[in-house]
Amino acid sequence: MEKIEVRYVWEWPVRIVHWVNFLSILILSVTGIYIGWGKTLAHNPSQYIMGWMRFVHFVVAFAFTISVIARIYWAFVGNKYASWRVFTPWAFKEGRKNMKETFLFYTFFKPTPPHCVGHNGMAGAAYLWVFALYLVMICTGFALYAQYAPGGFLSTVFSWVYVFGSNQGLRLTHKIVMWFLIAFAIHHVYSAWLMDVKEKNGVISSIFGGYKTVPEGED
Ligand code: HEM
Repeated sequence: MEKIEVRYVWEWPVRIVHWVNFLSILILSVTGIYIGWGKTLAHNPSQYIMGWMRFVHFVVAFAFTISVIARIYWAFVGNKYASWRVFTPWAFKEGRKNMKETFLFYTFFKPTPPHCVGHNGMAGAAYLWVFALYLVMICTGFALYAQYAPGGFLSTVFSWVYVFGSNQGLRLTHKIVMWFLIAFAIHHVYSAWLMDVKEKNGVISSIFGGYKTVPEGED
């Protein structure tokens, strides 16, 4: 009978960033949809509600940005499960093998997923793109925000973003990427649930407590 050990996988900064990002994306999406909607509606939106929505959007935007920067830092100083290496699995032999086996499982060619303690190869690669989308949201968001203070610090730092599009182009990008992030979140919860059931390693509770149950000695 296979021996099971309890392993500390997700350190506290990883878990805090995860939940700050979750809450931020939820609040930024709700307030963002209101901001976009109010402006496109034929009637005048309530200035009072709009003011609050924009204020909350900007405060949470700063929290989200700090959280994303913190996670990038932790990818270089955290444990091996948090390392930047897990986000580029194709660069390593083991990672490529794991990606292939996970892909075969996801596409119903294999009945069981490959064993792995941290992120599987497919998940790690997907999170790299999710972080790229976070950076798109941060850059387009701050470039738009900087317009409120022309010539200020933020407008100097984020002026380069306008090379990629006009004001309306950036707004559209900001909005479309939000829907990509919402689609990712739905898929993310589904696959976490699936893996929890299939692998029986407590992956869902691990994002609260940090511990997973894994076969003894497995890496
Ligand atoms: C996942 C993160 C985010 C989501 C889902 C989100 C969503 C949205 C949406 C849907 C809009 C309305 C777009 C429109 O129709 O014009 C919006 C507007 C805006 N967002 Fe974000 N946003 C996020 C992050 C950020 C960040 C990091 C900033 C940085 C400050 C930011 C700043 C702004 C600004 C300045 C506007 C325009 C507000 C206005 O015109 O009054 N957003 N956001």
